[in-house]
Amino acid sequence: MLLVTGGAGFIGANFVLDWVAQSDEAIINLDALTYAGNRENLASLEGNEQHNFVHGDIADTALVSALLAQHQPRAIINFAAESHVDRSIHGPEDFIQTNIVGTFKLLEATRAYWGSLKGDAKRNFRFLHVSTDEVYGSLSKDEPAFTETHQYQPNSPYSASKAASDHLVRAYHHTYGMPVLTTNCSNNYGPYHFPEKLIPLMIVNALAGKALPVYGDGQQIRDWLYVKDHCSAIRRVLAAGTVGEVYNVGGWNEKPNLEIVHTVCCILDELRGRADGKSYAEQISYVTDRPGHDRRYAIDASKLERELGWKPAETFETGIRKTVLWYLENQAWVANVLSGNYRDWVAKNYAERQA
Ligand code: NAD
Ligand code: TYD
Repeated sequence: MLLVTGGAGFIGANFVLDWVAQSDEAIINLDALTYAGNRENLASLEGNEQHNFVHGDIADTALVSALLAQHQPRAIINFAAESHVDRSIHGPEDFIQTNIVGTFKLLEATRAYWGSLKGDAKRNFRFLHVSTDEVYGSLSKDEPAFTETHQYQPNSPYSASKAASDHLVRAYHHTYGMPVLTTNCSNNYGPYHFPEKLIPLMIVNALAGKALPVYGDGQQIRDWLYVKDHCSAIRRVLAAGTVGEVYNVGGWNEKPNLEIVHTVCCILDELRGRADGKSYAEQISYVTDRPGHDRRYAIDASKLERELGWKPAETFETGIRKTVLWYLENQAWVANVLSGNYRDWVAKNYAERQA
């Protein structure tokens, strides 16, 4: 039995779906269903007894302790988080609450549970914390990619809150001997990605005939990994990672934002061209930059590749095409997401960024 937190969000839902497709082991999925949590992501698991959804907060110690006592999971995988940098700039408090306080409360409940285990159950237990490359800060153009020993230099309330959670996880290993693993992954993309993030926002806006808002000069670099490759890395680290270690996860795919937007436009031009025959790139609109915008992220994933033999299955070219196709084929999912409070967020974020 696994306890997954945040499994109704983008990466967590992909992880749960892939897990159920590949393993017989049951999952308890604890998710608070914030604006980013969507049970529709898990619709294909309705009635599947391998997946047990629980609506609740990782900071609810009574609930988490009861779940641990009842289900006796052999591992916890912590995806639950507030995850959008722009939202953390507008309102950092939820990030402090879930990413720092929530992770702390989850660690405390886990420590009590793990302390109660005996023999192999105790030895084999794992707490895997899913984190981000953003904790390492921003790289200049020629600096080498982030390794696991790169100094933590978080620059946004989001990355600072994730950095704090990483430190807590580390401390629970060093102080209490808790068997933790941490993964720091680069930017993900793929199915079920909430359309407030760059790639899904561009696909959804393009098809809706709306502007494609590029922050600043669009030359900021992100390192992109198809979400299912992130999930396979987490499975690999869970199975074979050394307790207390950190593993960077990435696919060696650095791209400037503007190139990403042009690639999305090109694929859409080919698969679902505009009625007027012009390119979707005509909809690109340069808007005010994000405050404190990190210029470049790049992950050195060689430790994970060398020590655990992990490799991504997708190149950026294959992954982005699958992603655009998924959005074209899942317009009902998009429509349902857009009808939620996401609309209010768009009005607030982009009103301040006049083109
Ligand atoms: P997401 O925002 O899509 O999903 C987060 C999920 O957590 C949602 O289902 C939400 O309802 C749930 N949640 C939020 N607060 C909660 C709480 N207090 N208790 C229980 N559930 C709660 O995020 P994502 O993109 O799927 O990211 C998942 C994890 O991976 C995060 O920890 C994030 O920092 C990390 N990560 C994300 C990326 C990326 O590119 N998206 C890259 C590297 C690491
Ligand atoms: P995002 O998807 O929010 O991920 P992160 O900030 O965690 O890397 O943004 C990816 C990049 O795209 C980032 O450099 C900001 C930029 N961006 C835009 O240019 N326009 C947008 O509308 C959004 C949402 C992001």
